[in-house]
Amino acid sequence: MSTGNKKMKGIILSGGTATRLFPLTATTSKQLLPVYNKQMIFYPLNTLIKAGIKDILIIVTPEHSGQYLNLLGSTFKKHGINIYFEVQKIPRGLADAFILGEGFIGKDCATMILGDNIFEDDFSDAIKNFQSGGHVFAKKVSDPERFGVVKFDEAGRAVQIVEKPQEWISDYAVTGLYIYDNRVIEAAKGTQPSERGEIEITSLHNYYLEKGELKVSTFNGEWLDAGTFDTLLEAGKIVKEKKIYENFDPMIDKAIEEFNADLKALAKKRLL
Ligand code: TTP
Repeated sequence: MSTGNKKMKGIILSGGTATRLFPLTATTSKQLLPVYNKQMIFYPLNTLIKAGIKDILIIVTPEHSGQYLNLLGSTFKKHGINIYFEVQKIPRGLADAFILGEGFIGKDCATMILGDNIFEDDFSDAIKNFQSGGHVFAKKVSDPERFGVVKFDEAGRAVQIVEKPQEWISDYAVTGLYIYDNRVIEAAKGTQPSERGEIEITSLHNYYLEKGELKVSTFNGEWLDAGTFDTLLEAGKIVKEKKIYENFDPMIDKAIEEFNADLKALAKKRLL
């Protein structure tokens, strides 16, 4: 796929410490926990694959890298999807994805999605039609102080984005799907850590907003962030009730079936 003469690469940020899910995440990665009938990571993978992205970098923690390799290392190769891995040793912040991903992105554009974010909507058009600048997606929430928040003017243009605002500016949170052109690498490298010691993705939005090159769209479907016991349970329920599991690209279902068939064959061999 192309954006002008540039390709679109995909990144899934799937590291982090997942402290809110301790002790579940003492034994595995948050993004490998189940959401209804699939590991969580398949949902963001679907968002990227559905949009025609063929090269996907998955950023993981050192301790879970083997589990990711087992599940995804060979599963999509014969279907024309190349999965790459990069280890993030310390959770330095969401913008770190573009520093760790520099070599992978090369001269191309990048769509980054958080490994614990599940979207009901299909963002294929936005990703396929992306030309330059930045494009992010906002959703109305009841607890904006927990997120990067975007304020719109009367004409619906984004005018301000603030990370976890202490004073109310808007109810619209920036969700975990971000499309940027190649300048994002330099923007991430130039970002100073915030008070909590992270390089914030909000700084990248502001890099483009200040240039008048950030598009912020709102959307209607579910946005599920499966990072706590309650939201993880809720995500599974909503995926089942709204049949979000039926939204998968048929290729993903096929690849998972093949993976399962291999597992079954191996299990049989072990029994012999
Ligand atoms: P968070 O949910 O903010 O952080 P976390 O997953 O470490 O969880 P907790 O707050 O319970 O400790 O992260 C959002 C997503 O981004 C999640 O999928 C993990 C990922 N992430 C990284 O991969 N690297 C990072 O440096 C950070 C900050 C997050």
